[in-house]
Amino acid sequence: MSASLKILAINGSERDGNTSDVLRHAAETAAERGVDFEIVDLRDIRMERCGPCGDCNDRPIACEVADGVPGVVQKMIDADGIVFAAPVHGFGTASLMQTFIERAGVGYLRFDRPLSNKVAGVISVARRYSAGEVWAQLTVNALLNRMIVVGSGFPATVHALHRGDALKDEEGLKNVSRLVERMIDMIELLDEHRRLTGRDDLLSSREANERVGLALNELQAAA
Ligand SMILES: Cc1cc2nc3c(=O)[nH]c(=O)nc-3n(C[C@H](O)[C@H](O)[C@H](O)COP(=O)(O)O)c2cc1C
Repeated sequence: MSASLKILAINGSERDGNTSDVLRHAAETAAERGVDFEIVDLRDIRMERCGPCGDCNDRPIACEVADGVPGVVQKMIDADGIVFAAPVHGFGTASLMQTFIERAGVGYLRFDRPLSNKVAGVISVARRYSAGEVWAQLTVNALLNRMIVVGSGFPATVHALHRGDALKDEEGLKNVSRLVERMIDMIELLDEHRRLTGRDDLLSSREANERVGLALNELQAAA
């Protein structure tokens, strides 16, 4: 039924480990619903850290650093739903995902909020400590991008220390499956609504460009 629907999962782990296992589990749930589930491993993307320029809060055009980030941003734009999945490192989000959030968010997404009204789901993977904090951080970033964040009941936080442990966390995996199921339900609901009403812009995005009134106007005034 949903063959044309697509979920993109962003994996912020440095290794083919627990987060990958969790996302493969999520992909199985999506496959049962006939939904395409593509995993992008950030470790395979050439991704620069934010540089010393520091002008991204003022510049009216996208980041000029040429690496793999804009390609991933385009994949997100092309998807119906996005899963953000990251391990916890040092009580925070693992650095690959943190870098991606900084580079994609401030460098590209901030201008027009192109992920508005896409369905988002968040998964954190940790031995235990700060799993909730990382889940919450990724969730507010999805909300910042005006995405429709879907819950799974209890948050999809998977407890795993050693390779293979994630597949033993039955409760965590159940929450991941619930999350994917509910994401697909919401994507289908929105899809049906768009088809029935012919409305693409379901929720207001009148103020999409956060640079209007900031750098753009200042540049024009200075010209
Ligand atoms: C550098 C590093 C720091 C970590 N810090 C934490 C931490 O603060 N809290 C925690 O619960 N687990 C921590 N862990 C454990 C990982 O979150 C856990 O092993 C997770 O399953 C790794 O997922 P992955 O195999 O997908 O990379 C850390 C692991 C590493 C390698």
